[in-house]
Amino acid sequence: MVAMEAPVRRHRRLRRSETIRALVRETELTPSHLVYPIFVEAGLTGREPIEPMPGQFRLGLDAVSEEARELGRLGIPAVLLFGIPETKDEAGSSAWQPHGVVQEAIRRMKDANPDLVTIGDVCLCEYTTHGHCGVLAPDGSVDNDRTLPLLAQMAVSLAEAGCDIIAPSDMMDGRVAAIRHALDSAGFEQVAILSYAAKFASAFYGPFRVAADSAPAFGDRRGYQMDPANVRMAIDEVLTDVAEGADMVMVKPALPYLDVIRAVRERTELPLAAYNVSGEYAMLCAAAERGWIDRERAVHEALTAIRRAGADIVITYHAKEWARSRS
Ligand code: PBG
Repeated sequence: MVAMEAPVRRHRRLRRSETIRALVRETELTPSHLVYPIFVEAGLTGREPIEPMPGQFRLGLDAVSEEARELGRLGIPAVLLFGIPETKDEAGSSAWQPHGVVQEAIRRMKDANPDLVTIGDVCLCEYTTHGHCGVLAPDGSVDNDRTLPLLAQMAVSLAEAGCDIIAPSDMMDGRVAAIRHALDSAGFEQVAILSYAAKFASAFYGPFRVAADSAPAFGDRRGYQMDPANVRMAIDEVLTDVAEGADMVMVKPALPYLDVIRAVRERTELPLAAYNVSGEYAMLCAAAERGWIDRERAVHEALTAIRRAGADIVITYHAKEWARSRS
């Protein structure tokens, strides 16, 4: 018989108790890193469940103040706001009305919880009849340069309502520069830009498009959002937005793109956000509902993984349940 050698390294020594494990834990998750996305619908009273996103709701304007206070109690510092307007048109003009649904939501949430950081998503897809993220050219493609002033107008309108951070998600070229210029010209040089710099044309946005009523009426978004196969291109997108004046950048989606988060982390010193999108949320909910995974542990693990990959900020529909599970 051959004598068994004792292991040279005993890794299990540092896993013997929760106290030791916590001592050597490399990645921290606290509510202060989380952003909670919210859908506000014009004309709605109360809350309406979003079918493919169990536990998430469209809110009426009468419900946003309480939501802002609840986030405060849970220690969640920021919201990302999406609007479902009463009317849509070719250009998406409901997006920049002084009393538009998101503009009103920002005012009410700030009144209810002045410490809450409000992040306004800037994109036209929820406001256009055709559901694309900008205005259309005669050939049906999205006209980049004619879209830029509209995005800038939307950004200024959100800033006028008290929005702290503008987050363009449309993927037009030059939007960060156009928005920065418009904000500065209107006296909003203190309003920051969080650019959805590396946003992929993803199947994981499906539930969101139901939630926000923003599915394109024809075609898809592959002419402006990124090809899922590309990581060098993601860095190129990020560096362009940094040069145009972004204060923070984002990778989206998060879990299928952890390598992109890591690659971007290594190429910029700016704060980096990652968006744990609606399809990632829906998948986890569906498996947990069937009893196939432990929801609380899976949520914690997923959010920790996004932080470990290099994200400073995690935008997630799980924010409230995670914060509750910690308290
Ligand atoms: C708007 C926008 C989308 C998401 C955020 N902003 C949808 C899209 O690009 O089609 C998706 C977020 C999610 O899936 O949770 N353009």
